[in-house]
Amino acid sequence: MIQKPSAASGTADDGLGTERIVKEKRIRDGDIVLAQVMNPEDANPAGNVHGGVIMKLIDTAGGVAAIRHARCNVVTASVDRLDFFHPVFIGDLVILRASVNFVGRTSMEVGVRVESEDPRTGGRRHTSTAYLTYVALDGNSRPLPLPPLVPETDDEKRRNREAEARRKTRLAEKTKEKECSGA
Ligand SMILES: CC(C)(COP(=O)(O)OP(=O)(O)OC[C@H]1O[C@@H](n2cnc3c(N)ncnc32)[C@H](O)[C@@H]1OP(=O)(O)O)[C@@H](O)C(=O)NCCC(=O)NCCS
Repeated sequence: MIQKPSAASGTADDGLGTERIVKEKRIRDGDIVLAQVMNPEDANPAGNVHGGVIMKLIDTAGGVAAIRHARCNVVTASVDRLDFFHPVFIGDLVILRASVNFVGRTSMEVGVRVESEDPRTGGRRHTSTAYLTYVALDGNSRPLPLPPLVPETDDEKRRNREAEARRKTRLAEKTKEKECSGA
């Protein structure tokens, strides 16, 4: 579902008794690019950068995009499957592009595309794509309603539809897991 601009604004209690304005946001209002050079402490003795270093950068980039949309504290609720297509080495530049794909009531999916570049050659490779869900929290650490998202371009609308489908799958998996564990 693509949120309509008419459902756009309202107010929500921030948990501390203050009403905050919940106004629709465009995807480009939140998206960010983060770039970092990989150093020896990021890698194993053979020079391969640890997957965990890239994962932390993914969560950092995703978290910033989420906070820019929410304009409040957010926490990472889940990370979907993560594949590494190519190794990253010491001296490489890791470039992460993060943007909000879909906004639910209090949670949002952020997509992070990771590329690595050898700055000596300019050669770039697509290293990973990750989808993370962040939940906005109020001052009492309770989920807080988010501003609606307004996808504008055809690409943004496609990503929004795909993200909504992933959300349905995620929620169905969560329900199934609860049933299996008897919770
Ligand atoms: C994420 C957290 C706030 C959700 O709390 P909760 O009591 O389950 O909240 P709710 O059931 O009301 O769900 C709130 C929203 O989060 C979504 N959500 C909850 N758990 C989720 C999960 N594992 N994956 C994706 N979405 C999730 C719900 O679908 C809901 O979305 P919606 O409002 O857009 O429909 C809570 O589990 C938490 O604080 N977890 C720890 C987060 C953290 O510390 N992360 C850092 C890494 S350790």
